[in-house]
Amino acid sequence: MRFTFVTLFPNLIEGYFQDSILKRAIDKELFSVDYLNPRDFSLNKHSKVDDTAVGGGAGMVMNPQPLCDALDSLKTNNPDIHIIFLTPVAKPFKQNDAKRLAKKSHVAFVSGRYEGIDERVIEEFADEVFSIGDYILTGGELASLVLCDAISRNVEGVLGNSESLSIESFESELLEAPSFSKPKEYRNLVVPKEYLKGNHSKIRTLKIALSECKTKFFRPEQLLKHITRKPYEK
Ligand code: ADE
Repeated sequence: MRFTFVTLFPNLIEGYFQDSILKRAIDKELFSVDYLNPRDFSLNKHSKVDDTAVGGGAGMVMNPQPLCDALDSLKTNNPDIHIIFLTPVAKPFKQNDAKRLAKKSHVAFVSGRYEGIDERVIEEFADEVFSIGDYILTGGELASLVLCDAISRNVEGVLGNSESLSIESFESELLEAPSFSKPKEYRNLVVPKEYLKGNHSKIRTLKIALSECKTKFFRPEQLLKHITRKPYEK
């Protein structure tokens, strides 16, 4: 699989792939990452990429020309590419999207800066548009990294045995049950006894109950979905 980051600031992104799980996956050639900077396509003699908003409004907007030319070149060379724009004005990104997009061969993330991207570029090139949450970042780079991380860990082989994909939060409506490491007792706090006894059916029942507690506390609306969709398991 291949990821292309279309960004004015590739330096903001590069470091994330230089350590840990994703670095190991790149070294194993499970996916690759490259960058395309719209500034390199600017026809302006000062390589300008933004301008004031037509119709007024605060801040600068990214001009269509550098981005359109960058995306034209990307599409011409990669007809199967799936182009995603990151903006707060979009549908929220979910785990199901991460799993679905992990099956694509080539995904591009287009990050806006300043007050945003000229809407015509989005209209022309977007296969999908995502927001990562109800808050405004200084640009789409962090959001594109969030998507790339969540997608790539669903690519076959990226997670080792120790970082399993099974039974995770958001695979169902329930949040994941709490995890514990060794020692069994630390600062007078003990791991739940059932976890220690090795009876897997009892551990499973306890984990479901703890999942429900966590979900009720942090995401009550999700628990409601869970209860209404399936028969409630006690
Ligand atoms: N760019 C700025 N804020 C964003 C957000 N919340 N999600 C995606 N892209 C963004």
